[in-house]
Amino acid sequence: MSENNKGKFYNNSDIAHSHNDENLQVAYNSHNDEDLQDAYKEWAPAYDHDNDNLLGTVSQPLSVQIFQEYIKDKSLRIIDVGCGTGLVGVELEKGGFSNFDGIDISKEMIDIAKKRGYSKLFIGSLNDSLPCENNEYDAAFCVGVFTHGHVGSERLDELIRIVKSGGIICFTINEGVYESYGFNSKIKKLESENVWKVLEIRKNDYMVKKNVKGFYCIVEVQ
Ligand SMILES: C[S@@+](CC[C@H](N)C(=O)[O-])C[C@H]1O[C@@H](n2cnc3c(N)ncnc32)[C@H](O)[C@@H]1O
Repeated sequence: MSENNKGKFYNNSDIAHSHNDENLQVAYNSHNDEDLQDAYKEWAPAYDHDNDNLLGTVSQPLSVQIFQEYIKDKSLRIIDVGCGTGLVGVELEKGGFSNFDGIDISKEMIDIAKKRGYSKLFIGSLNDSLPCENNEYDAAFCVGVFTHGHVGSERLDELIRIVKSGGIICFTINEGVYESYGFNSKIKKLESENVWKVLEIRKNDYMVKKNVKGFYCIVEVQ
């Protein structure tokens, strides 16, 4: 983002919000984690407002709803990878879950997530080794991270590493990268190699105000 644009969303309002989807486009045009950190540092104060009012993002409640169709045990230890400002955590709390941690590359996004019920919040990148043990969690969420300019399908392996056998991974894929980033073939490969069992892949609304759909995937690690 250019110097001229920095901070412009604070000028005339005490509620940070964007007037167009420039923050989203900057994030989508990222080439590496440093670009993403810059993009989300800028977007963090306006993210929640834009999520609801500009983009109409429904991926957080819908992911947790689908998860609850398969999972009844509220005591599961869950990690939310790319937790951002914690909107998945908000939905997990509403659903009665209380044992969830979060990881994100953006300190500014995590700072907002601190009020949202997470037991622990870490800075880390899914493009590197996450600061988690092998098989540490009963379940992982990864919502809004497999999208343009963010994280590729090969990093599904890192989610699998940190979830125990029999555990669940619930993740979204923006429809625009499903084929082009190799998610379709990677998901099938992991199933054919018996690394995971696909419980469901559901195409549904994702950003309704942008008319973008997403794939909601729920898998069981073998
Ligand atoms: C579209 S937001 C989604 C945030 C949250 N999950 C939600 O649904 O509201 C994408 C988030 O992924 C984070 N992110 C991007 N690349 C990442 C990476 N390599 N590792 C961890 N988090 C990442 C961003 O900082 C941002 O908070």
